[in-house]
Parts: sequence; structure tokens; C-alpha cells
Amino acid sequence: MSTKRSKLKLAVLLVFFVSIGVVCRADLSKAASLMARTGRQNQAQSNKANADNKVRLELPKELRAPAAAADYVGTDTCKACHVEQFDQFAVTAHYVTMTSSKYPDTQKGCEMCHGPGKTHVDAGGGTGSILNPKNSKATEVAAMCATCHQDESGRQNFHQNQHDIATVSCNDCHSPHQPHKKEFMLISDTQELCISCHREVSRDFAKPFHHKVPEGGMSCNDCHQQHGLLNKTQTIDLAGGMDAMCLRCHTDKQGPFVFEHMSARSEGCITCHNPHGSINNRMLVRSDMKMLCMQCHSDRQGSAADDPQKAHDLRDPRYQNCTSCHIMIHGSNSSRLLLH
Ligand code: HEC
Ligand code: HEC
Ligand code: HEC
Ligand code: HEC
Ligand code: HEC
Ligand code: HEC
Ligand code: HEC
Ligand code: HEC
Ligand code: HEC
Ligand code: HEC
Repeated sequence: MSTKRSKLKLAVLLVFFVSIGVVCRADLSKAASLMARTGRQNQAQSNKANADNKVRLELPKELRAPAAAADYVGTDTCKACHVEQFDQFAVTAHYVTMTSSKYPDTQKGCEMCHGPGKTHVDAGGGTGSILNPKNSKATEVAAMCATCHQDESGRQNFHQNQHDIATVSCNDCHSPHQPHKKEFMLISDTQELCISCHREVSRDFAKPFHHKVPEGGMSCNDCHQQHGLLNKTQTIDLAGGMDAMCLRCHTDKQGPFVFEHMSARSEGCITCHNPHGSINNRMLVRSDMKMLCMQCHSDRQGSAADDPQKAHDLRDPRYQNCTSCHIMIHGSNSSRLLLH
């Protein structure tokens, strides 16, 4: 009961802080309400929800009990029966644990991952007497790998992201055993690896206008951090949010412009562009330019005849290709109306 109640309190607090955030941006409220019409979720809120959704990592049961030094038999013993696995291990970066004196016996070779092997060897090998991560939960494998890999920036969040929570395991992407040396011990090339699970995404990249990922000009992790981050779509985190990620390459869209288009944007770029690919020119989210702009500028509808305040009549075909006049659609230094 009490934990339920404290969760409720937390939720109320959360809503409170999120609302404060919204109020603080009241000066931008007009723009914000325009943005709201596009139905974008409040990213901060979903980030927060993610952070509260921590999954506890627990070592596999084979590694929970403390082991004595004598329980470690050494990699040469394993090699005697597992030549194949040894050869695979020997081409990976983990082999450094064998050659460097930095690593104690408990963190060397086979036993650094499989745990002390004495019981298994005493049994003459066989199944069930030593940890096989293949049979472990994703959270258990993560806990095991994290005994050494918790410090890398990306993975500090790995219990809060979309990938490692409880479904996708370190060894779904990395293979500590592999016949040929592959970069980062990945199971396959990054793109192939990602697509093997995210087939729907490859359909977007097959559309006529797309970022050149299939052609090898770019990679999924030019935009995504595969180990996850606090944001829901795991896009590379930069101060300035998702747009800042796009702007690393599209520097000409960066500004600051004297006249920004939607300076209050939080996920500006993807309001109008599909980041993967689109059937529309310039990877726009809509085929009809007018409809794209009308998502937010519906007050432009109507005609000068109805209302002398209206600058132009949008039923007039002359006005339908908005960017033929408003050419500086991303921002302008000389025209408030983005005309030049
Ligand atoms: C005397 C030979 C022998 C030695 C020494 C030996 N193993 Fe094994 N190991 C086996 C056999 C046999 C199997 C069962 C293989 C099978 O069923 O395919 C096995 C299975 C395993 C498995 C899979 C266990 C499971 O439950 O699926 C792992 C992991 C393993 N060994 C790791 C090691 C490590 C690490 C060492 C060194 C500490 C080691 N082995 C030493 C013979 C040996
Ligand atoms: C960096 C961690 C790591 C190291 C070091 C390591 N392994 Fe493994 N091992 C794994 C993982 C993870 C799996 C599960 C395989 C998978 O997911 O494809 C595994 C699986 C195995 C298996 C079972 C294969 C099967 O098909 O069920 C054996 C046997 C094995 N390892 C032996 C060894 C031996 C022998 C060494 C040392 C020469 C070694 N491992 C070093 C992580 C490691
Ligand atoms: C005992 C400590 C230890 C454990 C446990 C461990 N690693 Fe490592 N790992 C290392 C070291 C040391 C390196 C080499 C680092 C370097 O070169 O700077 C490394 C490197 C890596 C790399 C980079 C490979 C490259 O080619 O640059 C990957 C990926 C990796 N480990 C994945 C894993 C996975 C997955 C697990 C769990 C199945 C795991 N590690 C468990 C110590 C460990
Ligand atoms: C969804 C696939 C995926 C999962 C799951 C995953 N990784 Fe990675 N990992 C990658 C990719 C892709 C790279 C290469 C990054 C690059 O190209 O910069 C990488 C790189 C690494 C590196 C070396 C580079 C660095 O960032 O230090 C380490 C170490 C590593 N992973 C460990 C782990 C551990 C430990 C886990 C489990 C907690 C894990 N990874 C889970 C895909 C994954
Ligand atoms: C073993 C399968 C697997 C692999 C390999 C894999 N993913 Fe995922 N990915 C998932 C699952 C499962 C989820 C969480 C469920 C979901 O939202 O689809 C996820 C979630 C994501 C998300 C967040 C999706 C969202 O809706 O917010 C992104 C982005 C992502 N993955 C990118 C990648 C990238 C980039 C790679 C390659 C480095 C990769 N994935 C490799 C299975 C995988
Ligand atoms: C140009 C940058 C970029 C590249 C390259 C990219 N993504 Fe994305 N991806 C994004 C952005 C931005 C979003 C968030 C879209 C949103 O919130 O509407 C996203 C969303 C996703 C999602 C979740 C939503 C969805 O569309 O299903 C997945 C899964 C995903 N990407 C996987 C991948 C994979 C796999 C690759 C490589 C084949 C890849 N991405 C390459 C920028 C990119
Ligand atoms: C790693 C660099 C990189 C990142 C990050 C990146 N892009 Fe691109 N983008 C490119 C390149 C290179 C091209 C031109 C590719 C081509 O000619 O097909 C391009 C093309 C485009 C185009 C189409 C231009 C045209 O002429 O049709 C749009 C729109 C676009 N990007 C938007 C985005 C958005 C939105 C993001 C962030 C979600 C983003 N880009 C992130 C490199 C990047
Ligand atoms: C309000 C909608 C909108 C937003 C927000 C937006 N764009 Fe665009 N963008 C467009 C339109 C419309 C075009 C096509 C203009 C034309 O061809 O007349 C375009 C064209 C582009 C092009 C290709 C042509 C060129 O000028 O280089 C790139 C690259 C691009 N946008 C990147 C971005 C990036 C990066 C962001 C986020 C910082 C962004 N866009 C935000 C509407 C938008
Ligand atoms: C996601 C919402 C959104 C979309 C989509 C959008 N705009 Fe805007 N636009 C705004 C906001 C917010 C402002 C700032 C409004 C203000 O300050 O009155 C603005 C300002 C403008 C202005 C300057 C008006 C002024 O009074 O300063 C022009 C011109 C304009 N947009 C044209 C377009 C065109 C053309 C498109 C389609 C390519 C478009 N907009 C798409 C939100 C959007
Ligand atoms: C033929 C050129 C042309 C086309 C096409 C055009 N506009 Fe305009 N637009 C203008 C001019 C010129 C103004 C300034 C009118 C004025 O100051 O009275 C303007 C003003 C605006 C304003 C600011 C109005 C205000 O009252 O502050 C917005 C918003 C706008 N246009 C949106 C659009 C949208 C959306 C489209 C496409 C559906 C579009 N425009 C198509 C020329 C054009």
C-alpha cells in the first residue's frame, strides 16, 4: 500500500514539475500551442517516466556466491576441452586480460565471464555445472558484463533505455565468441544488425528520399546511441535536443537567425521531416506542402474576401506551394516572413 502511495505522490510531483516547465515557457506559449496541435508528446515527460522505470540488474545465480581463488582453474584448462571457443576468444579484445598483468585471475580469460570453473571441470565438463549466458536473462548478462563495463558513458543508462531493459541482451548484439575479428565484437555489421530486428525501419530507408544508410554513406548510430539514453528514441543526446543531433551535419540550418521559424521548437526537424526516409521530396512528412504548413497555420485558411486581415487566399493555386515564396523556411536574417 505505502509503496503504491509513494508512487502516486511521485507521479503527482512529476506532473507538477512538468507543469512548471510549461509555465516557465509561457512567453513562448503561442508557439507552444501551435506546436501542441501537431500532437507531439512532451518529451521531458516520457524521459522522466523512463528514468523511473529502472530495472534491477542481478548477477546470474552461478556468480552470486563469493568464490575462493582455488575455484579458478585457469584458461589453459578450459582450452584443453574447448579449443574452438578458445580460438574464438583469442581474436577478441578480451584477450588482453590474458596478456596484461592488470587483470587478476578472477578477471582473466574464460572465467571472467563464465565464473570459477572448478565444479565444471571436476564434473568432467557437461551442462548445468557452469554459467552459460545463452540461458541467462538479459538483465543477468548485463549485470555480468557490467562488472567491467559500467563506466562507459552510454551504458550508464542501460537500465533505463529501450534496448536492455529485459528484452535485448548484450549478447544479442555482441558475441564474445566469434570466428573472425569484427569491430566491437558485433554479431554483424551495424546496419544489418539493427535491421535484423527493426525491419519496419528498413522499409523507410527503401523509400525514394532517404538518408544514405543502405548505401553505406551513414550508419544507424550516426543518429542513435545503441546502448540507449534517457530519451525514448535513443537518439544521440546533445544539449539542444534532437535538433542539435541533426544540426551536427546540417550546419546551415543552425542559425541563430534573426527571424527563427518556430524558435520554441523542441523536436523541430522531425515535425516536418521523416528522419529515415519518405516518399516525399526533401523527406517531408507530407506530400502536400500546403497541408504540412496548415498543421500549424490553419488560421491562414479563408480568403482576403472573407477577411481583409488575411494576407493571401490559400484556395488560390498560386499560394499553394508555400515555400515558393517563403523560401527561407528554416529561418531568415532579413525577413520576418521568411520571404528572403
Ligand atoms: C574435461 C573437459 C572440459 C573442461 C576442462 C571444460 N569443459 Fe566446459 N564443457 C565440457 C563438455 C563436455 C561440455 C558439454 C558440451 C555440450 O553439451 O555441448 C561443456 C560445457 C560447457 C559450457 C556450457 C554449459 C551449459 O550448461 O550449457 C560452458 C559455458 C563451458 N563448458 C565452459 C567451460 C569453461 C569456462 C571451462 C574452463 C573453466 C571449461 N568449460 C572446462 C567439457 C569441458
Ligand atoms: C566476454 C565474456 C566471455 C568470455 C571471456 C568467454 N565467454 Fe564463453 N560465452 C560467453 C557468452 C555471452 C556465451 C553465450 C553465447 C552466445 O550468446 O552466443 C558464451 C558461451 C560459451 C559456451 C557455450 C556455447 C554454446 O553454444 O552453448 C562455451 C562452451 C563457452 N562459452 C566457453 C568459453 C571458453 C572456453 C572461454 C575461454 C577460452 C570463454 N567461453 C570465454 C561469454 C564469454
Ligand atoms: C573482466 C572484465 C570484463 C568483462 C566481465 C567483460 N569485458 Fe568486455 N572488455 C573488457 C576489456 C578489458 C576490454 C578491452 C578494453 C580496451 O581495449 O580498452 C573489453 C572490450 C569489450 C568490447 C569492445 C571490443 C572492441 O573490439 O573494441 C566489447 C564490445 C565488450 N568488451 C563487450 C563485453 C560483453 C558483451 C561482455 C559480457 C558478455 C563483456 N564485455 C564482459 C573487460 C571485460
Ligand atoms: C542493440 C545492440 C547492442 C546491445 C544490446 C549492446 N550493444 Fe554494445 N555496442 C553496440 C554497437 C553497434 C557498438 C558499436 C558502437 C560504435 O560503432 O561506436 C557497441 C559498442 C560497445 C562497446 C565498445 C565501445 C564503447 O562504447 O565503449 C562496448 C564495451 C559495449 N558495446 C558493451 C556492451 C554491453 C556491456 C552491453 C550490455 C549491457 C551492450 N554493449 C549491449 C550495440 C549493442
Ligand atoms: C535483438 C533485436 C534488436 C537488435 C539487434 C536491435 N534492436 Fe533496437 N530495439 C529492439 C527492441 C525489442 C526494442 C524495444 C521495443 C520497441 O520499441 O520496438 C528496441 C528499441 C529501439 C529503439 C527505440 C524505439 C522506439 O520506439 O522508441 C531504437 C531507436 C532502436 N531500437 C535502435 C536500434 C539500433 C540503432 C540498433 C543497431 C545498433 C538496434 N536497435 C538493434 C530490438 C533490437
Ligand atoms: C538521420 C538520423 C537517423 C538515422 C541515420 C537513423 N535514425 Fe532512427 N530515428 C531517428 C530519429 C530522429 C527518430 C525519432 C523519430 C520520431 O520520434 O518520430 C528515429 C526513430 C527510430 C526508431 C523508433 C521509431 C520508428 O520509426 O520505428 C527506430 C526503431 C529507429 N529509429 C531505428 C533506426 C535504425 C535501425 C537505423 C539504421 C538502419 C536508424 N534508425 C537510422 C533518426 C535516425
Ligand atoms: C551524420 C550526418 C547527418 C545527420 C546526423 C543528419 N543528416 Fe540529414 N543528410 C545528411 C546528408 C549527407 C544528406 C544528403 C544525402 C543525400 O544526398 O542523399 C542529408 C539529407 C537530408 C535531407 C534531404 C535533403 C534533400 O536535398 O533532399 C533532409 C530533409 C535531412 N537530411 C534532414 C535531417 C534531419 C531532420 C536530421 C535529424 C533527425 C538529419 N538530417 C541528420 C547527413 C546527415
Ligand atoms: C516547418 C517545417 C520544417 C522544419 C521544422 C524543418 N524543415 Fe527542413 N525543410 C522544410 C521544407 C518545406 C523543405 C523543402 C524546401 C523546398 O524545397 O522548397 C525543407 C528542406 C530541408 C533540407 C533540404 C534542402 C536544403 O535547404 O538544404 C534539409 C537538409 C533540411 N530541410 C533540414 C532540416 C533540419 C536539419 C531541420 C531542423 C533543424 C529542419 N529541416 C526543420 C521544412 C522544414
Ligand atoms: C509545427 C508547427 C509549424 C509548422 C508545421 C509550420 N509552422 Fe510556420 N510558424 C510556426 C510558429 C510557431 C511560428 C511563429 C508564429 C508567431 O510568432 O506568430 C511560425 C511562423 C511562420 C511565419 C512567419 C509569420 C509571422 O507572422 O512572423 C511564416 C511565413 C511561416 N511560419 C510559414 C510556414 C510555412 C510556409 C510552413 C510550411 C512549410 C510552416 N510555416 C510550417 C509553426 C509552424
Ligand atoms: C505567392 C507568394 C506566397 C505564397 C505562395 C505563400 N505566401 Fe504566405 N505570405 C506571402 C507574403 C507576401 C506575405 C506577407 C503578406 C503581408 O505582409 O501582408 C505572407 C504572409 C504569410 C504569413 C504571415 C501572415 C501574417 O499575417 O502574419 C504566414 C503565416 C504565411 N504567409 C503562410 C503561408 C502558407 C502556410 C502558405 C502556403 C499554404 C503561404 N504562406 C504561401 C507570400 C506568399
